[in-house]
Amino acid sequence: MDPKDRIFPDGFLWGVATAAHQVEGNNDNDWTDWENRGGAKDKSGRACDHWNLERFRRDVALAKSLNQNAYRLSLEWSRIMPREGQIDTAALDRYREMLRHLKDDGFTTMATLHHFTNPRWFAEQGGWESGPLPPFLRYVGEAVNALDDYVDLWGTLNEPTGMAFMGWIQGQWPPGRKRAFLPCLRVLYRLARTHDAMYGLISRRSDKPVGLVHSMTSFEPPSLRHADRLLASAVEYLMNQWFLRSTRGDYIGVNYYTRRRLRLLRYLPLEISEADPEGRATDFGWEIWPKGIYDVLLSLKRYRLPVYVTENGLADAGDIQRASYIRDHLRWLRRAVAAGVPVKGYFHWSLLDNFEWAEGYSKRFGLIETDFATQERRLRPSALVYAGIAGTNGATLDDD
Ligand code: FCB
Repeated sequence: MDPKDRIFPDGFLWGVATAAHQVEGNNDNDWTDWENRGGAKDKSGRACDHWNLERFRRDVALAKSLNQNAYRLSLEWSRIMPREGQIDTAALDRYREMLRHLKDDGFTTMATLHHFTNPRWFAEQGGWESGPLPPFLRYVGEAVNALDDYVDLWGTLNEPTGMAFMGWIQGQWPPGRKRAFLPCLRVLYRLARTHDAMYGLISRRSDKPVGLVHSMTSFEPPSLRHADRLLASAVEYLMNQWFLRSTRGDYIGVNYYTRRRLRLLRYLPLEISEADPEGRATDFGWEIWPKGIYDVLLSLKRYRLPVYVTENGLADAGDIQRASYIRDHLRWLRRAVAAGVPVKGYFHWSLLDNFEWAEGYSKRFGLIETDFATQERRLRPSALVYAGIAGTNGATLDDD
């Protein structure tokens, strides 16, 4: 390999990602209701106790010890606006403390303004399908005013397409609707318009880059059948490209986890099945397909925007596959950089085992193992592998 392609670009961000509801503990939002109604395998409860500043600081120190220079977290709308239109300044102060701490410790910070959860009052009025959007924008404005000093990159919505799919087609996340195709389109349309409104609003108040955090899967046909190929490209367009094509942004955040090979069974009524993973799979059953990160990154070249991999990781309680997963994905990421995609950073999902939505605590995504009974932390061996790569800006990626 050309030596210039061995090293990642100067200033590359090596980070970890978390999300408020998955780590903070004791939240009170539409997901809490969903958990109480039995929608998830566990209740989120105390989670990783990150609302506790002391615990948060200790975990940030662990991230630092792993040579991380960037940290992605999300702000919990229901904490900042517990009642419609009312701002809780104490909650904003707490986030200010957290972000200030990260900055003091030398981290580049990314804050996502919406990561799946909604205040109860918003969900009760129809949520993303028909709930009122002005209070959401008010929350965004207040958060940006209060926190912009300590935020380097603003993320608008986390995985709008994933959220709409899980909540309105699969029914595994709130509001638990199944195969509600038209409402799902309405939700996506409202999310796209909201993203643009956020983009405009934040850009007026801040000079920090603003972008979407988009879920991208590598969609491939399991056969050369014409119908399968057509299906894969239609789904690729709908799930990967449509949202980006319809919205604005200063950068693109990409969450990449896996490949899906879809087979068209019947046109009417539409029936699709998923082929079994060809190779290794994670504890979630998701196929490990490192080349997919290259394919999705290359598909972003046309947007001519900086790209951050805002999530990538796997459920692997035994830590058997994590080190090779990280290495293999980073090698393909480096190839995407060599092929001209301006990738500026990589955030591993996640720093810690945390509350994995409908799967509760059963899926372990952490570089660090969390004991949820005692809040003890234990570094997994793969964390040291990632730390070695991060600490040398990728120079040790090929030493295995
Ligand atoms: C992504 C979510 C994140 C986490 C990972 C495993 O879709 O953004 O919160 O749950 O999957």
